[in-house]
Amino acid sequence: MPVLQIEHVKKKYGDFTALNDVSLTIEKGEAVAIIGSSGSGKSTLLRCVNNLEKISSGTIKINNETLVQTVENKAVYPPDKEIRRICMKTAMVFQHFNLFPHLTCLENITVAPTHILGKEKTVAQMQAKELLEMVGLTHKADSYPAQLSGGQQQRIAIARALAIEPEIMLFDEPTSALDPEITSEVINVIQRLAQQHMTMLIVTHDMRFAKDSASRVIYMDEGKIVEENVPEKLFANPESLRLQEFLKSIR
Ligand SMILES: Nc1ncnc2c1ncn2[C@@H]1O[C@H](COP(=O)(O)OP(=O)(O)O)[C@@H](O)[C@H]1O
Ligand SMILES: [Mg+2]
Repeated sequence: MPVLQIEHVKKKYGDFTALNDVSLTIEKGEAVAIIGSSGSGKSTLLRCVNNLEKISSGTIKINNETLVQTVENKAVYPPDKEIRRICMKTAMVFQHFNLFPHLTCLENITVAPTHILGKEKTVAQMQAKELLEMVGLTHKADSYPAQLSGGQQQRIAIARALAIEPEIMLFDEPTSALDPEITSEVINVIQRLAQQHMTMLIVTHDMRFAKDSASRVIYMDEGKIVEENVPEKLFANPESLRLQEFLKSIR
């Protein structure tokens, strides 16, 4: 069952084409990594799925519901309320955590479930505590984000994203802002989610992480998907010259 269907998506900024005919289907339980050099459109793709950007044309379906489709060459979106409802099935984790600085870790996790999903506070708190335990930060429930290390803040950001019970998690370079020695604490959490069959789309510069964690790897260049394969094949036998060059450049 597909959780995310992207068909022939184009995204233009003025005359510049950031996404050029991108099609991608993600099945339930897949962990798909997106790699590619800076400026290739990876973040733009995630942002379009999460409605932080509007596409120029194409189709995006989340959990079999149409976020956007194209009629007579123009992207057509439903009313805002409907967009918000459909996009609640996705949750994004950013490079720079973006936690609410004035809220405790526990409050960061409960704010969306109580204010957006309308859950009772006690229920949301109980679930938040389970999520804190899952990311190994039970003891930080009452701390504020500024009192945490980068790796801890990112684990809270993951817990907060999970709290809305999304069908798909979107990660945009979740370890890029972290010191190399602490990226593993975040990677471990994401790998645990993969083992639990959470559906995930993960933009990463960390090829080892992509190799070890993803069921499929997508290589993007200049707004296009150039190549995709299971990690064993994509890294060992890149077919396109562009991917060969890219892998050489980062080694
Ligand atoms: N808001 C914007 N306005 C104009 N150009 C943009 C905007 N956002 C991104 N771009 C351009 O789109 C291209 C893809 O950007 P991005 O998706 O951030 O790449 P990546 O995440 O792969 O590094 C880049 O050339 C970038 O400069
Ligand atoms: Mg990016």
